Amino acid sequence: MSAALLNHWDALKAQADRLLATPLAGLASGVDHVSRCMLTLDNLHFVFARQRIDQSALERLLALAGDAGVQERLQALMDGETVNTTESRAALHSALRFGGATGASAKEARAAALEVRVRMELLTEQLAASAVTDIVSVGIGGSDLGPRLVVDALREHHEGRFRVHFIGNVDGSGAHRLLPTLDPKRTAVILVSKSFSTQETHLNGQILRQWLGDDSRFFAVTSKPQAAAEIGVAPERILPMWDWVGGRYSLWSAVGWSARLALGADRWDALLEGAAALDAHALNAPLAKNLPVLHGLLAIWNRNFLGYASHAILPYDERLGLLPDHLQQVVMESLGKSVRHDGTPVTYETVPVLWGGTGTSSQHSFFQALHQGTEVVPADFIGVVRPDHPHRENHQALLANLLAQMEALASGSQSDNAHRCYAGGRPSSLILLDSLDPYSLGMLLALYEHSVFVQSVLWGINAFDQWGVELGKRLANELLPALRGEGEAGDAISRELVKLVRGVALRS
Ligand code: F6P
Repeated sequence: MSAALLNHWDALKAQADRLLATPLAGLASGVDHVSRCMLTLDNLHFVFARQRIDQSALERLLALAGDAGVQERLQALMDGETVNTTESRAALHSALRFGGATGASAKEARAAALEVRVRMELLTEQLAASAVTDIVSVGIGGSDLGPRLVVDALREHHEGRFRVHFIGNVDGSGAHRLLPTLDPKRTAVILVSKSFSTQETHLNGQILRQWLGDDSRFFAVTSKPQAAAEIGVAPERILPMWDWVGGRYSLWSAVGWSARLALGADRWDALLEGAAALDAHALNAPLAKNLPVLHGLLAIWNRNFLGYASHAILPYDERLGLLPDHLQQVVMESLGKSVRHDGTPVTYETVPVLWGGTGTSSQHSFFQALHQGTEVVPADFIGVVRPDHPHRENHQALLANLLAQMEALASGSQSDNAHRCYAGGRPSSLILLDSLDPYSLGMLLALYEHSVFVQSVLWGINAFDQWGVELGKRLANELLPALRGEGEAGDAISRELVKLVRGVALRS
């Protein structure tokens, strides 16, 4: 870390010590506190009025971002520079939705993305003209979570031509439960795998292909078209993706075809336009007014200076029930690193544990720990002002609960009875959408993507690789023959556990 950055880092530690000794309520800076702690882009509002921060600490954080070159790195990201250093790749997910970057590789990527979009629309027309009513998207991780979230969140915006289903986990229960509800003659299957070598997708794909019994409705989305062709998928039914899009950032490519099929072309476009608006904002807004920059800086503030090891994502909207799952991958697979770009160990904490669930249901499960547990867990509350249903009273109660929880966590409450004391001082932010439509969902998802990148710049780590998941995959491949009774694998404990499993399996 350079001397200038170290200097900011030390100053921020001192600011944090000072602010940790200040009651959170004491940080509200007058009647315009909320408006001073709020950024709005179109119909998305980010309010950080309940964070444990004041103007002086915020200015220092912004200075850190300036000296760390956050704005330049955002430009480099969207221009197509090699930001994924361990795999020597760009990370051009923004080019899938945003045409405003000036870098040559960004322009090439955009042209390639538009070409695939045309092919995707042609295949969609063919499907729409056929008897197909149901689509099964088979993929896992980034090849599943984003489209699954969009399809679920925007159910009220579905065009209605296709029903869309997902199978991710290698657990055969997924296929076993879903397939009896579908007619193979009226179903199309999309196998989504960037690498085309993922065990889960390969095994589920085999089940689905056999069940379908007709390859004319079997499609693939992959960056390895050759591998798809080798298993017999016809070239005209393969939609490409590319090395320069990371799996967890790939929703916006043909990986999201299932979501496009559910939404129809116009709403799919609106989703991409929302994300593009966020891209343009991230690129052009000054640091102090930049939504993903502020969001990312507050994440760093809570993690590195206030020392909070966990972060909750709390959508107060059933439609966003899958958001915590999607963000777990985007945030934790991107930032779960302990070495810098050059391989040297970091000397500070990186990603917090990200988790969450919908309000108000979560209030009746884990909120007890948020209010009175020994860990302080900063949270993002996500609310939607206008519902997609007519039950006004329920919706008002939902939003009242959201606001009440933020207040209770921040302010706490004292009592003579220790069991009834709330310490308070627990920070949170609010992301408020005017309504949940394709455009605002696009903005919301892109906000988190860029916030993650901002955090990675400040930590000096690569947000676009995921080497940490490889060891487990290799060991699973070694243990698989042992489970079948073909030799031994694993360490002494795994070998005993294999015996235990085989013993039970052979008895049944
Ligand atoms: O879990 C690791 C991972 O590589 C993710 O990054 C990725 O989204 C997922 O597996 C699926 O990979 P693929 O699209 O190559 O099947």
